Amino acid sequence: MTQSLTVAVAGLGTVGAETIRVLQKHADLLTRRCGREIAVTAVSARSKSADRGFDIAPFDWYDDPVAMAREADADVVIELIGGEDGVAKAVCEAAFEHGRHVVTANKALLAHHGTALARAAEAAGKSLNYEAAVAGGIPIVKAIREGLAGNTIERVYGILNGTCNYILTTMRETGRSFDDVLEDAQKLGYAEADPAFDVDGVDAAHKLAILTSLAFGTEVDFGSVYAEGIRNITPLDIEYAGDLGYRIKLLAVARRTEHGIEQRVHPTMVPLDTPIAHVEGVFNAVVAEGDFVDTTVYQGRGAGGGPTASAVVADIVDIARGSSVPVFAVPAGDLAAPQPADMDLHEGAYYVRLLVQDKPGVIADVTAVFRDESVSMESMIQRSQSADEGDPVSVVMTTHNTVEKSIRGALQRIGDLETVVETPRMIRIGAL
Ligand SMILES: NC(=O)c1ccc[n+]([C@@H]2O[C@H](COP(=O)([O-])OP(=O)(O)OC[C@H]3O[C@@H](n4cnc5c(N)ncnc54)[C@H](OP(=O)(O)O)[C@@H]3O)[C@@H](O)[C@H]2O)c1
Repeated sequence: MTQSLTVAVAGLGTVGAETIRVLQKHADLLTRRCGREIAVTAVSARSKSADRGFDIAPFDWYDDPVAMAREADADVVIELIGGEDGVAKAVCEAAFEHGRHVVTANKALLAHHGTALARAAEAAGKSLNYEAAVAGGIPIVKAIREGLAGNTIERVYGILNGTCNYILTTMRETGRSFDDVLEDAQKLGYAEADPAFDVDGVDAAHKLAILTSLAFGTEVDFGSVYAEGIRNITPLDIEYAGDLGYRIKLLAVARRTEHGIEQRVHPTMVPLDTPIAHVEGVFNAVVAEGDFVDTTVYQGRGAGGGPTASAVVADIVDIARGSSVPVFAVPAGDLAAPQPADMDLHEGAYYVRLLVQDKPGVIADVTAVFRDESVSMESMIQRSQSADEGDPVSVVMTTHNTVEKSIRGALQRIGDLETVVETPRMIRIGAL
């Protein structure tokens, strides 16, 4: 049998420890599938004494994961530490400098340094595999890079953050507020103590930047992703969304337009008759549209030790089998320069909710602003939130296709009207 593939694992947390468990549990199966054994030879983490649920004695221990990437007896270095810079980046760079393949689950690192790392991998003649970095256990990187290689991708979008999807699902099911549900999610371990990366859309933006590069053959361009999180979503908006035939999801969308490539993450009204409207809780989903294949939908667990380790191990298996493909589907030197589309030029339909004084002429003032800003209204619902006469009322409007800059201009002016008692809320409606 061919020589073993030797592996050094940097980071033994949720994903690192589970990766070792998969490699141990499925050692025979993986040997059969690869035609060679996969042997963990070295590990590194901060604490040598922590109980990881398995014996680390058979492995060479390194306090310094960068030293491990330089010196270990390993064909592959698995980076499962995390963070966009610092030690994770140094581990990957050292691995390539010393002629080793890299497998990582680190979306932040790839979003910021993906193109440079792809170049380093190719210069070293080694693989940089990162299936776990986008949508956890869903093999979407492989699907786009390999399965859809015969297509021009027109658009790729999805629910890429399980924490936000869990919060939005629970808010809809229980009618509770964002803050309330976030607190629960933190207690259940679905949200970090500092939830900003998840709830402000940064994590989904990292993943989208990677998907965009894969789908459109451009350098990874995280800086151009428009990201808006879910903090401002209220149970009232969720209720209105249902009444209008939608479900609110934090959607990440990459699309080629006449103005360039749009990359945007924001709460979106998703029509109830689409499959991803029904992707609930911590699940992720990705939709990729190709010119010949049409629409393809992928769904599964986007996080957690098991699903993420499943993707990490698949990447190791590819290396063990000798399979190698360009990191972002075309050789790194041939990736096109980013072509960002200005978010102001985005065109779509919008949901707008206002809280206004219940007086004659208020709606006329609002519609006059819409007319001036070339925003065309599609529907309007007016509902009193209290039984008391004279209390403010909610007015919900949807628009026909409108340019982002126009709706923003209109909402700025509407917010300044004396009769409008709360900052207008706006949610984009997805044409899916
Ligand atoms: N968790 C998920 O569901 C998930 C899903 C998809 C992708 N990812 C990505 O996978 C990566 C790992 O995530 P995780 O959830 O497994 O993180 P984690 O549980 O926090 O584990 C991080 C590991 O890195 C080690 N570490 C931290 N700094 C180190 C240093 N300077 N030197 C050596 N070791 C160091 C830690 O050591 P100690 O254990 O000794 O503290 C720990 O074992 C991240 O890039 C994350 O974004 C995670």
